[in-house]
Amino acid sequence: MVKELNIGNIKIPIPIIQGGMAVRISTAPLAAAVANEGGLGVIAGTGMSLQELRQEIRKARELSQGVIGVNVLFAVNKFAQLVKTAIAEKVDFIISGAGISRDMYRWGREGGVSILPIVSSGRLARMAEKFGAAGIIVEGKEAGGHLGSDRPLKKILPEVKSSVNIPVIAAGGMVDAQDIREILNLGADGVQLGTRFAASEESNASAEFKELYVRAGSNEVDLLPSPVGLPGRGIVNAFSRSIMGNGKLEIQKCFECLKQCSKKYCIMDALNNACSGGDYSKALIFSGAGVGKIKEILSVREIFKELKTAF
Ligand SMILES: Cc1cc2nc3c(=O)[nH]c(=O)nc-3n(C[C@H](O)[C@H](O)[C@H](O)COP(=O)(O)O)c2cc1C
Repeated sequence: MVKELNIGNIKIPIPIIQGGMAVRISTAPLAAAVANEGGLGVIAGTGMSLQELRQEIRKARELSQGVIGVNVLFAVNKFAQLVKTAIAEKVDFIISGAGISRDMYRWGREGGVSILPIVSSGRLARMAEKFGAAGIIVEGKEAGGHLGSDRPLKKILPEVKSSVNIPVIAAGGMVDAQDIREILNLGADGVQLGTRFAASEESNASAEFKELYVRAGSNEVDLLPSPVGLPGRGIVNAFSRSIMGNGKLEIQKCFECLKQCSKKYCIMDALNNACSGGDYSKALIFSGAGVGKIKEILSVREIFKELKTAF
């Protein structure tokens, strides 16, 4: 029997969170499919308009009675508006990383929505608990997307677990039940997976994006520079090679999406190209370190069937 995960006043029947994945990789169909399996399904709000995010949340609610959250990167200009929109829509959780927002906890309290921050150290986990976090997502360097640490998950998890008295969910590098078992043995109360779900049938990523995951070997994933100011883990391709080093790529049109942007290249364009199946020589393909283990694109139901054997 799987033990449900209680965070704040919300029960998650299967302690698996599908990580929020921008831009538009985790939208309503993926989040709803995960929620229908008993996990926490997460819509990535980063890069969406407020209207689009509202529609995605409503669509997910139509497709599922389960637990739905919204992830917004602190680094984006529209952070406050996106979070407030999700709270007004009464999502179950707000999830946020790549920076610390004290205000987010107040907005959550006022709107009756629990907050799950993504952190990478015991110190930040303690601070988040003090601010009012309902639980902590701890991400190690193996995770896909922007990274706040160069330490492996197995090192950070025990440190975070001993620093707080709220549930701790571990993220980074897990693809199958065996990976999850190892992390649960280190004391995690639940797990968050991104890459495995990006390569699901319900993911909004293009077929080409999913195929790239299936073909990629673990040695084809590396740390890539991002204009956000944090490195990101992704697949080595023509685009990633063009952004290594000191070079800058020409920005055709600035979306003014980030609070602070190094202008090294346009991350919005690069992530849009990745999701939509546009020009892959201009696409940033975020991916976790475990991508080499993904051999086929499965439905969320099939993925859950295997992952649940970990508990
Ligand atoms: C394609 C992709 C996009 C991501 N986008 C975001 C994001 O917008 N916000 C965020 O907090 N994390 C993002 N992440 C991180 C995931 O939410 C999750 O924590 C991470 O993927 C876990 O590691 P794994 O990919 O090895 O399972 C992204 C990850 C991937 C693979």
